[in-house]
Amino acid sequence: MKASVVYVSNTGNTESLAMAIREELQNCLHCGAPANEALAADLVFAGFWTDKGTCPEELRDFLGKLHGKTVALFGTAGFGGSKEYFERLLATVGSLVPADNTLADGFMCQGKMPMTVRERYVKMGNTQGVENFDRALAHPDHADLTAVRAWARGIADNAAEGTPNAKR
Ligand SMILES: Cc1cc2nc3c(=O)[nH]c(=O)nc-3n(C[C@H](O)[C@H](O)[C@H](O)COP(=O)(O)O)c2cc1C
Repeated sequence: MKASVVYVSNTGNTESLAMAIREELQNCLHCGAPANEALAADLVFAGFWTDKGTCPEELRDFLGKLHGKTVALFGTAGFGGSKEYFERLLATVGSLVPADNTLADGFMCQGKMPMTVRERYVKMGNTQGVENFDRALAHPDHADLTAVRAWARGIADNAAEGTPNAKR
């Protein structure tokens, strides 16, 4: 079974997840930015940084080209600490995957943000924003990378057996 890892990452957080996933795959056709050569895979890991509540446009365009694949979404978001928030983001991006694909369980973790964001929170007196920003600084951390590896192995094993742990 051939796999590919396609991701969009501005500041490296999502890329670090992608590299960890790549290392867990036996037969990886493509690992990098959205590209048509990735479409030859049966299993596509598609990664995004969260941009105003969804994925960036480059990934949205790529997802629209997927047909008959198993698609496993992964991503990073500045706001962490809530499983529901991550699930909501995965559902939003999952809805961009055409219905003739099998959507596997996704993976998300928190990712650090640029310092300008902290400065804005400080100026606005947004203490919760500053606290969240400071928590995000460590992520993706070692535990996130260990978790994403285990997740990717599980997805790849299930896809190889023809039993993806499908969301739909
Ligand atoms: C323009 C912009 C918009 C963002 N929008 C969100 C958002 O809606 N929700 C969120 O949780 N994080 C948001 N973030 C934070 C990033 O998703 C987060 O820092 C991510 O880990 C960056 O990943 P990357 O290093 O792979 O680019 C935003 C960041 C930027 C720069």
